[in-house]
Amino acid sequence: MALGRGVQTLPQLGYGTMATSRQLALQKLRQLGWVRGSGPAVLRRLQDAAVVRPGFLSAAEEATLRSELEPELRRRRYEYDHWDAAIHGFRETEKSRWSEASRAILQRVKEAAFGPGQTLLSRVHVLDLEPRGYIKPHVDSVKFCGGTIAGLSLLSPSVMRLVDTQEPSEWLELLLDPGSLYILRGPARYEFSHEILRDEESYFGEQRVPRGRRISVICRALPDSGELGDPGQEPAAC
Ligand code: OGA
Ligand code: MN
Repeated sequence: MALGRGVQTLPQLGYGTMATSRQLALQKLRQLGWVRGSGPAVLRRLQDAAVVRPGFLSAAEEATLRSELEPELRRRRYEYDHWDAAIHGFRETEKSRWSEASRAILQRVKEAAFGPGQTLLSRVHVLDLEPRGYIKPHVDSVKFCGGTIAGLSLLSPSVMRLVDTQEPSEWLELLLDPGSLYILRGPARYEFSHEILRDEESYFGEQRVPRGRRISVICRALPDSGELGDPGQEPAAC
């Protein structure tokens, strides 16, 4: 339903400056509900760099993506990698052919998260974490991923934690409800690691966020060099 779209449902036109500032204030308030950090400085620093848009997907859009992805994912087995691998309990695919309905959703992601001058990797990364699955802290390799990462979360809520790679006491947590979009760019992309907490550690502050199976659909900007070493070897998780 359209009301799930958060700030997008607010009047956009014809309400003058009062409404505009109220709109901005509301947007800020809602942001506070989905992002928490170690202090005001880090919140300010990542204000435009780590963004959550809860309710970005309508229930129908979520269902569209899910029904398109499910048969492809079901063909694969969950992997439990070597202890030092970044992702545990997952299966994944890289998808370049999408139904028209899904293409429209991905186009909305592109418009919401990427600048007009940014080119996206042609293959969209789809990652399916089983309930015990999790992603350890990492920074996506600059070799395979440019300045912006945008991810849709489906099925289960989860917590993404960002930690300053130079100053680990500086951190941010994003509450990712199903249907939400997150965007990492600038310092959030390059100066912070990101991770998806495992079920036992899945808290947003005091709030327990029980983890079930989670599917993410991740769009990435092309590496800044503008080319990949070997396009055939574009990695799934970079
Ligand atoms: C990754 C990653 C986050 C997500 O695959 O590199 O960080 O939302 N994924 O699944
Ligand atoms: Mn990553």
